[in-house]
Amino acid sequence: MKIPPVKGTRDFYPPEMAVRNWIIDGWKKVSVRNGFEEYDGPIFEYLKMFQIKSGDEIVEQLFSLQDRGGRDLALRPEITPTLARMVNQRINSLPKPIKWFSVPRLFRAERPQKGRLREFFQWNIDIIGEDSVLADAEVIFTTVDYLRDAGLTQRDIRVKISSRKLLASVLRKIGIQEKLLNTLYALLDKYRKIPVETFEKTLLEQVQDSSIADKIMKFMATDALVNLTEIIGNNSDVDEAIQELAHLKVLLEQMGVWHYCDFDPGIVRGLAYYTGAVFEVHEFAQELRAICGGGRYDNLLHDFGGPKIPATGMGMGDCVLEILLREKGILDKQITKQNLYYFVAYVDETYRNAAVKLTMKLRSAGFAANFSYKITKLGKQLKQASEQNAEKCIIIGDEFKNNKLTLKDMESGKQELVDTDEFLSGPKS
Ligand code: HAM
Repeated sequence: MKIPPVKGTRDFYPPEMAVRNWIIDGWKKVSVRNGFEEYDGPIFEYLKMFQIKSGDEIVEQLFSLQDRGGRDLALRPEITPTLARMVNQRINSLPKPIKWFSVPRLFRAERPQKGRLREFFQWNIDIIGEDSVLADAEVIFTTVDYLRDAGLTQRDIRVKISSRKLLASVLRKIGIQEKLLNTLYALLDKYRKIPVETFEKTLLEQVQDSSIADKIMKFMATDALVNLTEIIGNNSDVDEAIQELAHLKVLLEQMGVWHYCDFDPGIVRGLAYYTGAVFEVHEFAQELRAICGGGRYDNLLHDFGGPKIPATGMGMGDCVLEILLREKGILDKQITKQNLYYFVAYVDETYRNAAVKLTMKLRSAGFAANFSYKITKLGKQLKQASEQNAEKCIIIGDEFKNNKLTLKDMESGKQELVDTDEFLSGPKS
């Protein structure tokens, strides 16, 4: 009986694994150079951990299970609640601000589609214990630092920035009741993800007042902070949120990455815990789902039983990123196949043992080396050597009896006869 892979999962054969490693190595390198330290947590947690603050969408997508003691558990759909739990546990001993990163494997029972799977990897960077906008700017800078390093330009990607604080104060000012805010966020997050007629219809159903719905539509369509007062009128909370975003813009200009960014009130974020600046990175044409998303969440640690301590961060999945890097031809250029230094070929069976011995010697000396298990013609072995991307091929033939080896440079095709003992005393790279 053949058992297929589970829907929404991936098998990583060596070529896919090479891509995954290239992406994750880049995430880790950029995290470290931006001053983040790595952490990780368990792959499953108590179910209630994700029910507290992640929001309905994530709760509906949980893979949950019961352990033998009847405890309700869930596979992690995100790592931010685990981070909050871990930081709360050692809140007094951890030096602040905490700047941590992680690359967890996550699980969400989403409908599998382009860029969305049921199992994926997600780069997380978070700064905890710092309430200044500078921390938000640093998170955005680090995100752009990676994307730029990977080879994406301002014409490939846009960082779309808004603020939950701004949205909340605007909604309050135009008459939305407090208890409606959370359900409205979930709808507004769909602004660019569903057809505009469906969006407008649902909005009207929720707010039940066409002039309020009109104002919300106008707000969602603004692309400059200065236009807001025209729509909303003067209001101190709105002004404060606008000031904060203006400050964020200045910092990002100073950091040299504002040209990647736009203000976009359509960015709301699906998760329930955000409280301040929020952002998402989208590919330029906006045909794919978000590459990443994040923002400030100043209440989450408190909601998990800790002190009130500010936090801001970002999560980037590997799926949309990989599609984009492939579309831009970046992966083809960057991913090298298996990279061998020496391939040890032998002309016939007589020299097989010598080839195996020599290969192991080279490996022990630190070289990536390989040989052919199958006793085949030299031509076939040379083909194998180039398939394995070997830089040099050593050929063991009759001259081996006279203490000589043939050394072939695979790129130039040049061959030379070398002294075996001399070669073994110091194979050169
Ligand atoms: P999120 O918006 O739920 O935020 O996910 C962030 C990113 O994870 C998405 O933009 C996408 O790249 C990736 N992602 C999410 N779901 C899937 C999926 N089913 N398949 C593939 N990729 C996916 C969070 O998870 C927050 N915890 C991020 C954060 C960290 N905020 C503050 N700190």
